[in-house]
Amino acid sequence: MADTKSNFIKPLFDYEGRSRVVEIEGLNKSFGDNHVLKNISMELYEGENLVVLGRSGTGKSVLIKCIVGLLTPDSGKLEVFGQQIPGMKSYQMDAIRKKIGFSFQLSALYDSMTVRQNIEFPLKRNVHGLTQAEINQRVEEALDNVGLLYAIDLMPVELSGGMKKRVGIARTLILNPEIMLYDEPTSGLDPITAGEINELILQVQEQYHTSAIIITHDITCARMTGNRINFMYEGEFVLKGTFEELSHIDDYRIKPFFEYNEF
Ligand SMILES: Nc1ncnc2c1ncn2[C@@H]1O[C@H](COP(=O)(O)OP(=O)(O)O)[C@@H](O)[C@H]1O
Ligand SMILES: [Mg+2]
Repeated sequence: MADTKSNFIKPLFDYEGRSRVVEIEGLNKSFGDNHVLKNISMELYEGENLVVLGRSGTGKSVLIKCIVGLLTPDSGKLEVFGQQIPGMKSYQMDAIRKKIGFSFQLSALYDSMTVRQNIEFPLKRNVHGLTQAEINQRVEEALDNVGLLYAIDLMPVELSGGMKKRVGIARTLILNPEIMLYDEPTSGLDPITAGEINELILQVQEQYHTSAIIITHDITCARMTGNRINFMYEGEFVLKGTFEELSHIDDYRIKPFFEYNEF
């Protein structure tokens, strides 16, 4: 077992001189009596892939929704690009959202539109003054970068689960985001397709120089994509480290992830 794991040690990410694009301190969020996020602190450094690992229902999606201003936390500091998100005016929030690519858990493609139309939609809505030729070029480039140029004229119903995820990622890449938020990027995929999506996430990190938060309960996804992992348990970050570090920690809360998943 130890040998198998050691094959997968990621090179250490170089944090030297990198700025913090997201900074969270003491964040709390409740829904009525349900105290979901408990004193969350984390930072996302420019250019890194940070994984938030945890079982279903622990508060991962709530955290990501707070970051993009879809939910308002009850207390705590939550800065993106150095600006406090809660209480921000909507025009300022819009400007920040344009720099964030949010790839939803369900790819949420428009079923009545082709792949091309799905991808050009956010571009037409957010970037004005482009010619149709420029739009076509950017759509084709984004699709090519996720390996799906050949599917440009297909309808969503004709796509496999993995292809839908790729189109969803292309649709966020079209706006050249500085931050990528992936919510369960591999859920519902077979292991081989999931592996391809994990590789795509790494490719995006390199090619687009994004900083990313990857939310997952899939330990293989965490291992392949994350430079660091924050492990969430019942709404709290209880362990933080590299995959390698966490794999050696004898803690009842994280052990099941390593025992019940093959990687
Ligand atoms: N809009 C909401 N209103 C009330 N409760 C919510 C809302 N969104 C999430 N929750 C609750 O927050 C908890 C964490 O949910 P979530 O962040 O979706 O978990 P996961 O880690 O699977 O992404 C769950 O108990 C869920 O029921
Ligand atoms: Mg979720």
